[in-house]
Amino acid sequence: MPATPAIDKLDDILAFSENFLEKMHEMGQSPHSRKSLQRLFSPSEAAEMVGRDRTTLARAEAELGVAPPVRNPDNNRRVGYTLDQIQAFRAHFKTLPHRDATQDRPMVIACQNFKGGVGKSTTCINFAHYLALKGYRVLVIDTDSQATTTSMFGYVPDAEIKQDDTILAYLGGAHSTLAPVVRRTYFPGIDLIPACLALYEAEIALVLHIAEQTSPEARREVFAELRYGIQTVADEYDVVLLDSPPALGVISLNVLIAADALVVPTAAKMFDFSSTVQFFRMIRTYVAQLAPEKSYRWISVLTTLFDQRYDSQRQFVDVMRACFGESVFQRVFFHAAEVINASAQFVGPYEQIKPNRKVLEMMDGVFGEIELAILREWPSKRAELNARGII
Ligand SMILES: Nc1ncnc2c1ncn2[C@@H]1O[C@H](COP(=O)(O)OP(=O)(O)OP(=O)(O)O)[C@@H](O)[C@H]1O
Ligand SMILES: [Mg+2]
Repeated sequence: MPATPAIDKLDDILAFSENFLEKMHEMGQSPHSRKSLQRLFSPSEAAEMVGRDRTTLARAEAELGVAPPVRNPDNNRRVGYTLDQIQAFRAHFKTLPHRDATQDRPMVIACQNFKGGVGKSTTCINFAHYLALKGYRVLVIDTDSQATTTSMFGYVPDAEIKQDDTILAYLGGAHSTLAPVVRRTYFPGIDLIPACLALYEAEIALVLHIAEQTSPEARREVFAELRYGIQTVADEYDVVLLDSPPALGVISLNVLIAADALVVPTAAKMFDFSSTVQFFRMIRTYVAQLAPEKSYRWISVLTTLFDQRYDSQRQFVDVMRACFGESVFQRVFFHAAEVINASAQFVGPYEQIKPNRKVLEMMDGVFGEIELAILREWPSKRAELNARGII
């Protein structure tokens, strides 16, 4: 039999699979509309989160119009409050941790490394959850065409998310602000600018756009566009988190220029470790060319996928410290089955109805350290950090 021409073969595959995708989309509607934060917080957890004791919270329920915590029908015990209710308490008792708009700037943090599969998206998603549970206002911007982060927020990229729903609406000049593409997520406190495959295709269009510029200054400006876009919406937030693609391109360079600080996830393997050194060499070259005046608040390597069962990994952490010195977080993101399951079930460890306390403790340690790096940059938090003996 003669071979089928490639175009015909691809047309066949596409006709079949696009039909399937469409049906799936129609059937499922938006998973986002079904996704909600299921975890509830016990009265004692709530007390700790709000910074007031349980009795004070119970007394404030009526005054605030907060429904009493959901009860277990079997034993009538209070199961817990929702995060929205906890936020209402925090607002009432003035214990929301928001930055002071008059003196603290929103912090734009990129999870970036050109190496793939090192935990950029995992760090970005779980740190967003951590911050939102603490009560911060978070904007997550997915800039990776693989759209892992977008999926974790319950969207089906490409079926539900189109080019004009992403940062491209701004980078392509369709809007003069990023505001129209910011969407509320099911997770109280987290907004999202989603991604889809169009970001991958857009790389070429962006390169052509750069080639059209007539001066070096105008060419450099193309790399600062995301930064300007973020400035149009950042006032609403305490922290803006950027998930980056595992590649060097116009979008990832925009991320580099947009960020105030970099978290550089690096898997606890020798190969990844040296590729992070290479990453630093490359970004040094590009920042020098594209934004020589740029400053970062901090740049810090985060050791990820750390498997404590192996001695060599323990040594690896020492090597990381020897190599990156102060520029590596002390805490390490352990390899945990819950994290893998989380991405398979689209429910992160912080969202689980019955979370694994050990995993949360590990992640609280990692993210607490990054949170501290943020707080140190906000003048309004100085007195509090001082009182805690941190600075
Ligand atoms: N701490 C962890 N424990 C177990 N599995 C993890 C952990 N962190 C990440 N993973 C898994 O490793 C894989 C890669 O993680 P992730 O998608 O976060 O990396 P990435 O750097 O964003 O990848 P890419 O470069 O493709 O965007 C995923 O399957 C994820 O579930
Ligand atoms: Mg990723």
